[in-house]
Amino acid sequence: MTHNAVEHTTENPAEAADHTAGRTPKTPLTLLGLGAMGTALGRAWLAAGHPLTVWNRTAARAEALAAEGATVAASAAEAVAANGLVVVCLLDDDSVEQALADADLTGRDLVNLVTGTPGQARDRAAWAAARGARYLDGGIMAVPPMIGVPEAGAYVFYSGSAELFERHRTTLAAPAAVRWVGEDPGHAALHDVALLSAMYGMFAGAAHAFALIGEEDVTPSSLAPLLADWLAAMAPAVHQTAAQLESGDYTLGVVSNLGMQVAGVPTFLRTAEEQQVSPELLSPYFELMRRRLETGSAGEDLVGVVDLLRR
Ligand SMILES: NC(=O)c1ccc[n+]([C@@H]2O[C@H](COP(=O)([O-])OP(=O)(O)OC[C@H]3O[C@@H](n4cnc5c(N)ncnc54)[C@H](OP(=O)(O)O)[C@@H]3O)[C@@H](O)[C@H]2O)c1
Repeated sequence: MTHNAVEHTTENPAEAADHTAGRTPKTPLTLLGLGAMGTALGRAWLAAGHPLTVWNRTAARAEALAAEGATVAASAAEAVAANGLVVVCLLDDDSVEQALADADLTGRDLVNLVTGTPGQARDRAAWAAARGARYLDGGIMAVPPMIGVPEAGAYVFYSGSAELFERHRTTLAAPAAVRWVGEDPGHAALHDVALLSAMYGMFAGAAHAFALIGEEDVTPSSLAPLLADWLAAMAPAVHQTAAQLESGDYTLGVVSNLGMQVAGVPTFLRTAEEQQVSPELLSPYFELMRRRLETGSAGEDLVGVVDLLRR
């Protein structure tokens, strides 16, 4: 495997060539973590012309990017020493702690793309500051094949210092579009987890729908396009939910009121029973609707469920 020497100079050969050619030099950066996502990110930075130093715990996983021009560091500490901008894409928050235990973060701009909680992001920001680093947290809204493919719609939420984000915006935007969501370092994770939580609710509903047709002469592939269109048609309802939450008026623009929807619940439960399908994915939501009807009004929308969830 190739272990190229890590450049410690401020201008590397690629940058010097850029200067000579009159092009704006691309910011060199370090990437820690070459799993599925890290490798996709690294490949996109290389393709965009950024000098890239990489490190991965299992060295063999760095070979592909080394062949594409990355400099491979022998340790995380060496990789961190190589560049001012350090991007981390390891498995989880614990692995960040472990990988960076011996690294000198003084003066580094640390961008953490590991999926975590808002609390973990805030703690990691304080941890980075105590070690002399500036910090941005990120939440990746993509799967690896979408990275480096602008038309795929991938983007990354960023939160933390606005100044730091602006300084690195162009570099960070090479693999996927960027969305800065505020100075609170926990807000990228908050947005990330909120969107993914809604996605799991959608998957849960789709799982129930596929289970319902299981024994019938209806194929999954005939149901799938209908499901996709229906879910897309219903998705904009979240704008109405937001308006109701912000106004406090849960009857604002209601088209399918809570009383009617609770009255329809037995149909869903009986259909599940007829089809010999467990209602365990849907029942908790129906129970919340029923509880809200007890204290709210039949003319409301489903939004009162949000209040019941908040502790
Ligand atoms: N893949 C996706 O679809 C996706 C989408 C959005 C966000 N993400 C997030 O991106 C991050 C990376 O995901 P991935 O898909 O690249 O995961 P992955 O393919 O499982 O790779 C995990 C990476 O973490 C490293 N690692 C694990 N524990 C470590 C430790 N204790 N010390 C040092 N390195 C350690 C692994 O090193 P080894 O090679 O040595 O095991 C590997 O580089 C995760 O936080 C994930 O939630 C992923």
